[in-house]
Amino acid sequence: RQKLLQYNTIDDAAKLLRERKNIMVITGAGISTSLGIPDFRSKDTGFYDKLLTIGYTDPEMVFDIHEFESNPGLFYSLAADILPGFKQYSPTHGFIRLLQDKGKLQTNYTQNIDNLEELAGVEKSRLIQCHGSFATATCRKCGHKVAGTEIFDDIRAKQISYCVRCKIEIANEQAAPKQNKRKPAARRYDSSDDDDDEDDDIPQPGVMKPDITFFGEQLPNHFFDTFTDRDAKNVDLVLVIGTSLKVSPVSEMPNFLPKEVPHIYISREPVTHVNFDIQLLGNCDDVVVELARRAGWELKHEMIPKD
Ligand code: OAD
Repeated sequence: RQKLLQYNTIDDAAKLLRERKNIMVITGAGISTSLGIPDFRSKDTGFYDKLLTIGYTDPEMVFDIHEFESNPGLFYSLAADILPGFKQYSPTHGFIRLLQDKGKLQTNYTQNIDNLEELAGVEKSRLIQCHGSFATATCRKCGHKVAGTEIFDDIRAKQISYCVRCKIEIANEQAAPKQNKRKPAARRYDSSDDDDDEDDDIPQPGVMKPDITFFGEQLPNHFFDTFTDRDAKNVDLVLVIGTSLKVSPVSEMPNFLPKEVPHIYISREPVTHVNFDIQLLGNCDDVVVELARRAGWELKHEMIPKD
């Protein structure tokens, strides 16, 4: 896309904020780092960068679905570092909420899995969690879904979290008189269970997986539907905040929008692979507070505790 030459400065950005009505906000891990949740690719502090320094040559494997299937222990041994606190959100989350309160937020597409947009009060209909989130977790074997927080203790303890429902079914099965023994429901979907000699099998509960979209999994359908059918046609300004724009398909979104839609980038480091009209480089909390001030709005520069 060609840069729109009329937009250059932070005041241009503030004017656009005041004037535009359907603003798309695309966010990444950079909007949560001020809360102590590391991003992925920042040198020294990023989660992947840290894994590289302790010897993981391919740190994205932590979120690889095939790796998780064969070795869930890798995810469980490392994920504690990126667990959200759920107690407060950042001024940048507050800024997205402010856009919503002003009736200007078209949709926030977040790559973040910390679910803090919801904590900040961004409405579900205006929020697309492109990579899912830690809000819920599902058993890989029986499909039982729980609140994500239920597996947090296991993640913190760096141990694999197993399905409570599977465990109960297995316990019931083992307690039942032998002649009534039927195939344990916990093994319902396991094709390796097809042999007749059930008693040789020791039933295992399913592994819980947070409902994060791992590499190798499809993004939620509503991501594509909402973007192409609703938002790409209506948006009149796009703000991209705190993402390196390295992961597809989110990285491709800005280039799919109509060329007359101004593109603003707010992050610590510049990007060169997308032609933004305005790049506001710095700590995103500082930038959005200043932008809001210049737009004539009030946004406090402080962490915002949950009500
Ligand atoms: P990255 O770590 O790739 O990029 C975060 C960007 O935010 C970097 O460019 C930082 O410079 C910038 N940044 C960090 N803190 C900031 C701050 N306080 N103010 C302004 N900028 C700041 O994270 P994402 O782009 O979100 O997938 O990564 C995309 C996906 O890669 C993630 O969703 C994750 C990962 O694999 C899954 O979780 C499945």
